Amino acid sequence: MEKKLRSQQWFGKKGKDGFIYRAWMKNQGIPADEFQGKPVIGICNTWSELTPCNAHFRELAESVKRGVIEAGGFPVEFPVMSLGETLIKPTAMLYRNLVSMDVEESIRANPIDGVVLMCGCDKTTPALVMGACSVDIPSIVVSGGAMLTGKFQGKNIGTSDIWRFSESVRSGIMTEEELNLAEAGMCRSRGHCAVMGTASSMACMVESLGLSLPGNAAIPAADASRKVLAQFSGRRIVDMVREDLKPSDVLVPKAFENAIKVNAAIGGSTNFVIHLLAIAGRVGIELTIDDFDKHSAGIPLIANLQPSGEHFMEDLYYAGGLPAVMKEMQRFLNAECITVNGRNIGQNLERAQTLNQEVIASVESPFKLDSGVAVLKGNLCPEGAIIKPSAANPRLMQHTGRAVVFENIEDYKLRIDDPELVVDADSVLVLKNTGPKGYPGMPEVGNMGLPKKMLDLGVTDMVRISDGRMSGTGFGTVVLHVSPETAENGTIALVKDGDMIELDVAGRRLSLLVPDEELDQRRALLADPVNQFKRGYARLYVEHVEQAHLGADFDFLKGNSGSEVLRDSH
Ligand code: FES
Repeated sequence: MEKKLRSQQWFGKKGKDGFIYRAWMKNQGIPADEFQGKPVIGICNTWSELTPCNAHFRELAESVKRGVIEAGGFPVEFPVMSLGETLIKPTAMLYRNLVSMDVEESIRANPIDGVVLMCGCDKTTPALVMGACSVDIPSIVVSGGAMLTGKFQGKNIGTSDIWRFSESVRSGIMTEEELNLAEAGMCRSRGHCAVMGTASSMACMVESLGLSLPGNAAIPAADASRKVLAQFSGRRIVDMVREDLKPSDVLVPKAFENAIKVNAAIGGSTNFVIHLLAIAGRVGIELTIDDFDKHSAGIPLIANLQPSGEHFMEDLYYAGGLPAVMKEMQRFLNAECITVNGRNIGQNLERAQTLNQEVIASVESPFKLDSGVAVLKGNLCPEGAIIKPSAANPRLMQHTGRAVVFENIEDYKLRIDDPELVVDADSVLVLKNTGPKGYPGMPEVGNMGLPKKMLDLGVTDMVRISDGRMSGTGFGTVVLHVSPETAENGTIALVKDGDMIELDVAGRRLSLLVPDEELDQRRALLADPVNQFKRGYARLYVEHVEQAHLGADFDFLKGNSGSEVLRDSH
């Protein structure tokens, strides 16, 4: 017997309650048979003109709707809070968990049988997936697609160049006028960042997890195929409701392994770690930070994309997209994992093909042997820290240097270009108080710009350590997500100027070379952590956010509450 549609608890009801549920829908000019017995498909939209990466989502949602209607469903579009990486202060990450709550409660509270998640700019993907997982009704992701490649002075540019341009202006190699020209050529079309930054890594994450149709990750936002994929996704979600294919059916432990391996092969963002951990927490999968190192082992970098390589998301699409990457590395993947189209990974890859080996290499002759995320442990980060070897300088992967400590981001901004700053090319820059609780919200400041006096000497990379994050478009020998963080009185809180720090990426160690007795003395002087926020969301956030190595979700949001509504008041 076919399972009764969830939406019929509203629209199929007799008497006063059913009257209210249906009558108010009819004020939109919708005939009763539209929502009587048809799968009701929510289109969870993060459209906002304040999220430029997602500003085309109203139009894309129309394609989804067409697909839903074609397949015999009834589409209803609803907004959730959107997170635009470029404009939101203090950092979009502060609100990822809030959006996930918005998504979860919006889905559960409404007569929705299945949901299409419209995801684009960085945090919109994990937030929507986390929320949907905690309800666990059939769900499919439609990503917005990346921008076309930027152009400046005849060269291709993308978000990763912002860091280079900024350093070039500071060191006098580039003029302000040239910077303005680069700004004008950077964002040429709708869509999210054109490199393998966090947004594209998230789009690849959902595709490799099996939460989107194959090909979703790489189709450019401006390409007509993006709308076709949206329409196909609209058709498919209706069938997923009929089949009762839920996130928990797709998100099995082996699917998470696949996602970690694919993220390694594409040189994906370090933010992938924190978001995948949070998603795993929502579906009750026991994923740990160590699993990222374990499953990345032996996976070479085969996608030649910025910031780890040379090319752009548009090039990845023309080279065969993520299916071609996954086909090249299929021997490492769990091909039996089911995906939202009802087929498994192996079946989805049958016709995948690499069309340009400059962009997608084979496993036998990869672009780099080092890929993925290396998880560091040691007295400076007892619970872990991460570094992205493919975006780091090989010369600095084994390095010992003197700490130059900045107490917080304001201190860093104040002193980084100070001619009196005591620093040399071997120094290790340490930035405190940028963790989940300390900032709060763990901003992307970990790849802090180098001191001007080092730039003037031609230094292009130094070891940098923080409890914050780095933009997925960033690069350098940057140790991130140090846990526990400064605001939890982690060891990073104890570091002083001049302390020796040893980074040993091959040995997976990060050590503060100070005797234990000395560290104990320093620790005894630290005050107990206090929540400076007395009201509002920031108070809730600091009270409940977990540390980075656990995914920085709220402790009370872990797991799944299902799709049952708490009470029926009508
Ligand atoms: Fe939105 Fe980069 S700013 S994806």
